[in-house]
Amino acid sequence: MTRPTLRQATGPAHTRILGLGGVRGEIVVTNDDIAGPIDSSDEWIRQRTGIVTRRRAGADTDLLALATGAAEAAIKDAGLTGADIDAVIISTVTYPHQTPSAAAIVADRIGATPAAAWDISAACAGYCYGIGQADALVRSGSARHVLVVGAEKMSDYVDPTDRSISFLLGDGAGAVVIGPSDTPGIGPTVWGSDGAQAQAIRQTHSWLQWRDDPSLGWPTLRQEGPTVFKWAVWQMAPVAQRALDAAGVTADQIDAFIPHQANMRIIDQMIKQLKLPETVVVGRDIADTGNTSAASIPLATERLRREGLVEPGALALQIGFGAGLVYAAQVVALP
Ligand SMILES: CC(C)(COP(=O)(O)OP(=O)(O)OC[C@H]1O[C@@H](n2cnc3c(N)ncnc32)[C@H](O)[C@@H]1OP(=O)(O)O)[C@@H](O)C(=O)NCCC(=O)NCCS
Repeated sequence: MTRPTLRQATGPAHTRILGLGGVRGEIVVTNDDIAGPIDSSDEWIRQRTGIVTRRRAGADTDLLALATGAAEAAIKDAGLTGADIDAVIISTVTYPHQTPSAAAIVADRIGATPAAAWDISAACAGYCYGIGQADALVRSGSARHVLVVGAEKMSDYVDPTDRSISFLLGDGAGAVVIGPSDTPGIGPTVWGSDGAQAQAIRQTHSWLQWRDDPSLGWPTLRQEGPTVFKWAVWQMAPVAQRALDAAGVTADQIDAFIPHQANMRIIDQMIKQLKLPETVVVGRDIADTGNTSAASIPLATERLRREGLVEPGALALQIGFGAGLVYAAQVVALP
């Protein structure tokens, strides 16, 4: 039997971000609001993290609402409608259903049916993972317009008495639409993982352990702060440099540096190691929004644009890193 030769899809040569949107939790939570149960202070939190306030969502705002709001804003910004979206990727580690995915529900809410829809679990690297996937999907011809959303309601997994991570965390969602472009708009994604360090940022115990022993309490997040801090500072700057090299640009040729909003001191150290000139605008949204995991990079981008600090076409180096441990970086042209 002679088998037929399969056809394989091919797509446009280039992609870019066509539109961007973001939503923050509606409640402003100050350091004083949370310092008591962790025996901390406004001064300590500001000095060690750069966080002044974090934004959290109220009981009536769930992750789907945050994600849908950001998605609608990004689609509108791209000049498209939900019907133009072929694939929806939501990166989240805080969606409280094992299945179905948040992406399938958001796709329906924004009128993107029958778009392909799935969630990814890559924590604070999830947005950059999503950009890498979307870029590949469009260039392979598998989808024309891909919606990438980073959405987190971290406050549902916060232990108010935990000193290790809870005080950093905020709620929000950021979204972009990726589509075809006449010119290159998304550089190669440099990504990876180090599961040997899985314990460095973790859930206290599994859902099954909680089911079998309710005295353990609702699972929440913990981290080995100094371990994560050193990993981020020493291992992530070289990853960011590799993303610059892969895109064929140098530190003085980019307009913006938009790292995951984990800690202002990590951001400052990375700037030093990458030798970024002062002309490069830096995303520092953590000061008011806190660490919103997968949402933090698109939210920081949304803010830079809203404040008029970056213009359309500006080249931004973005890097996400977090629980896994996982990381991903790329240079993108901003919408
Ligand atoms: C969490 C983090 C802010 C802690 O800061 P740090 O400077 O590393 O703090 P350390 O754990 O070394 O502790 C230093 C001191 O502060 C105290 N401390 C720790 N957490 C504290 C808190 N929340 N409030 C007040 N004091 C605290 C410690 O007890 C210690 O006191 P001592 O010097 O008297 O022994 C920091 O490690 C960090 O930001 N890590 C990376 C976070 C991150 O990026 N996470 C997300 C990844 S996606």
